[in-house]
Amino acid sequence: ITVQVSKPQAVVQPTMWGIFFEDINFSADGGLYAELVKNRSFEFTQPLMGWKQADKKGKILIVNRADNKANPRYAHITGEVGLVNEGFRGMGLTQNEQYNFSIWARGNAGVNVALVNEKGEDIGHGSIAVAGNEWKKYTVSLTAVQTVAKGALKVSFSGEADVDMISLFPANTWKQRPGGLRADLVQLLADLHPGFVRFPGGCIVEGRDLANRYQWKNTVGKVEDRTQIVNRWNTEFSHRAPGDYFQSYGLGFFEYFQLAEDIGASPLPILNCGMACQYNTGEVAEDVDSYIQDALDLIEFANGTVDTRWGKLRTDMGHPAPFNLKMMGVGNEQWDSQYVSRYKLFEKALKGKHPEIRLVSSVGPSPDGDRFDYLWSEMKAAHADLVDEHYYMSPDWFLQNARRYDNYDRNAPKIFAGEYAAHVKDKEKDGAETRNTWGSALAEAAFMTGLERNADVVQMASYAPLLAHVDAWQWRPDLIWFDNLRSVGTPNYYVQKLFANNRGVQTVPVLSNGHTLAGEDSLYASATIDPAKRLVFLKVVNASGKPLTYTIRPEGPKGYRIASQQVLTATDKGDFNTLDNPGVVKPVELKKAGDKKGKVVLAPNSLNLFVMSYS
Ligand code: AHR
Repeated sequence: ITVQVSKPQAVVQPTMWGIFFEDINFSADGGLYAELVKNRSFEFTQPLMGWKQADKKGKILIVNRADNKANPRYAHITGEVGLVNEGFRGMGLTQNEQYNFSIWARGNAGVNVALVNEKGEDIGHGSIAVAGNEWKKYTVSLTAVQTVAKGALKVSFSGEADVDMISLFPANTWKQRPGGLRADLVQLLADLHPGFVRFPGGCIVEGRDLANRYQWKNTVGKVEDRTQIVNRWNTEFSHRAPGDYFQSYGLGFFEYFQLAEDIGASPLPILNCGMACQYNTGEVAEDVDSYIQDALDLIEFANGTVDTRWGKLRTDMGHPAPFNLKMMGVGNEQWDSQYVSRYKLFEKALKGKHPEIRLVSSVGPSPDGDRFDYLWSEMKAAHADLVDEHYYMSPDWFLQNARRYDNYDRNAPKIFAGEYAAHVKDKEKDGAETRNTWGSALAEAAFMTGLERNADVVQMASYAPLLAHVDAWQWRPDLIWFDNLRSVGTPNYYVQKLFANNRGVQTVPVLSNGHTLAGEDSLYASATIDPAKRLVFLKVVNASGKPLTYTIRPEGPKGYRIASQQVLTATDKGDFNTLDNPGVVKPVELKKAGDKKGKVVLAPNSLNLFVMSYS
């Protein structure tokens, strides 16, 4: 294997390997957003969904107030009332950890608050006294004396009061932010060192119909003023989200921008262009202007000064500095002619006012055939900045497409591989159910060598979906799985991590017998260099079931040394990681990385990272 170190080709963009976050599989409420109370504001279609009345001596009445459109409902309590919240498939509570309870209330009532275990036993409690006719926020901290995966919260009232926004957060959130994000999950994302975060979807952006679309303005400002809606992935026909999947928007656009900033990634918000999800209603709004205005206002929210309306809101929310927004997506998986005309209107307005913002447009999955040719030629003619391709295909497709961009027109729009995952049919279940097996991750790794080799045109890529709760998912495979206490990276996660953490700065050719390695002898390879650090990052996939011995020959500068060889492999291509067995497929660093002459062994079905130094 020859690595032509002195022939740098393309610059690898800092955005090359990123993440795509969508609130699917309980990724936000019940996942990344650390709120433990489900339906804290009684706004679900059935107002007491998630709540059980434990003590029925008193009465509870749900009141609808006309003067608060964002948060219309609250509960009026009379007498002795006990309410138990079940959380999102239970509440994960950890021994000796502190939990912060809060409630908005007015009236006169004593409130006892208890964390309870699966048997309903008190494992941590506190109390507050509500007094006064004005709405006020009351807080108390509790410490759990036991660890439970499926605990609950019991709130017992005695007196008469109006109550709303009943909330419980672990104190130990990411960066200890009150009302913040789940630390273990953000850490897994941070460890990827992603170049960008695409948010908030996906189909969530579009909604089943336009009323159900994602409207960023409803997701900023005080949490109690954010208008929640039913989640587009709330599937009445699925036992995993039987009607109880809503979006509280506690994780809203401010938090997404902040998350991206925290983990050193560029934010990539996707906006609705006035079209609902084509797989559902496909509703199209006649008015485009208000959608364009939302996009312009978002740029102001992210980058504007305190003197602007939306820049002021960002400042008031605690972030006076701009979020450094540089790109924005227009629509998700919108593929027909109406999309093209809308995209052009967006482009005209946005480029007119903000030429500094790069636009990402939808071009469809385009795996095969000519279904999307029309869209591709329109985007090419429009000189679109970046086109977003999605591919959920078989592992074979990923292997066969390692050369996908080798002959791509270098004058055409740059590529964003915005959603991809190899889908392996599950043996026990029907074809739609797939798992994060090593075989799927290996195929993605082979494909990613092709993306990296073509970094002059492929400037961004992200696996999809990102997160899934083991008891509440609608779609798999997913990059990271979690329950109420634990989280686990899949083999696919480790593939992403290996590429993203060893991105390099420029690509260099990798040849064997004068040919690019993209399937020959079942090998797939790509390499990048970091000239300032004098490092080479060579990624080699052996997709065959046998060990292969090769000699790595760097060409160019002298004094090469293979500093390390990391191997990602498994006993079987069907292996996958679980919460109980998280280390089945994990990268291993070999004690000895090749011999003095650069002879290396590539294990069967393996991804190998060689880091080489030179003088
Ligand atoms: O990632 C899940 C879904 O797949 C996304 O919402 C959508 O863009 C795609 O169809």
